Amino acid sequence: MIAVSAEHIEKAFCAHTVLRDVSFSIPQGEIFGLLGPSGSGKTTLIKILTGQLAPTSGSAALFATRSEALTISQRRGVGIMMDEFGVYERLSCFDNLKVFAALHGIDRSAIQKTLEAVGLSDCAKIPAGKLSKGMKSRLRLARAFLTSPQLIFLDEPTSGLDPAAAEEIHAMIAAQKKRGVTVFLTTHDMTEAEKLCDRIALLDEGRILVSGPPAELCRRYNRLRQITLRLSDGTELSFPADPASAPAICALIEQGRMETIHSSEPNLESVFMTLTGNKLNV
Ligand SMILES: Nc1ncnc2c1ncn2[C@@H]1O[C@H](COP(=O)(O)OP(=O)(O)O)[C@@H](O)[C@H]1O
Ligand SMILES: [Mg+2]
Repeated sequence: MIAVSAEHIEKAFCAHTVLRDVSFSIPQGEIFGLLGPSGSGKTTLIKILTGQLAPTSGSAALFATRSEALTISQRRGVGIMMDEFGVYERLSCFDNLKVFAALHGIDRSAIQKTLEAVGLSDCAKIPAGKLSKGMKSRLRLARAFLTSPQLIFLDEPTSGLDPAAAEEIHAMIAAQKKRGVTVFLTTHDMTEAEKLCDRIALLDEGRILVSGPPAELCRRYNRLRQITLRLSDGTELSFPADPASAPAICALIEQGRMETIHSSEPNLESVFMTLTGNKLNV
């Protein structure tokens, strides 16, 4: 079953084209990461996929229903976390979720369960405005989880968080995947994408440059292909990763001069740089 599909999506705001021929599909149960620098069109794409914004041309569908035509009960099965959806600062965590539980017509018993899932059950009575940044992100995440959706869109869920707080969010996203939930997330953090996502797509100026499993993309764009040795006297030597380098490398090892040896392993950031010639502006 395909959870999300995008077919030739184009979006222009007046004369400004923001998305160009974006196509992909996401099978159910996958964590799909959309990576790209600020302004590349990530949030716009989420809005189109979730039916909040109409594309200029092309089409988006969730579980084979066009995003623009989703019924209220179908929308209930889709959780969304994005910057525009804030929290009510003066309401407690519990009451924040109570508002949305009422809007969705769901049982209040889901609230406690959801607060537990995001590690906020001890904070149920605390006003949202008093929470730390990481806790506030978890409350926004709780809102996306509240209806036990089968599909969740997370727009830069860890943006601005310290590594420990981001790590907690990662664990919660991974737990959703274990339940069979499909997750679409955007990020400009390449390490986060590499760690969490089954597949990623690199977006640059509204166009998908490449997509696939992170490890496969790293292998495919491993243009460096070097083996680097650090010798016991502190010098560093690099060799092309091909059979012709073997005798020289073996000799250094036999002479007992090698301290460490590494093959070049490109990460998504270097793949992105290879493809665009520029660095992520984060
Ligand atoms: N409602 C809008 N009207 C005009 N331009 C917009 C609107 N929404 C987004 N844009 C423009 O579209 C581009 C992509 O924005 P966005 O999707 O927010 O990128 P990202 O989420 O990757 O940072 C930006 O240049 C932004 O200024
Ligand atoms: Mg954005």
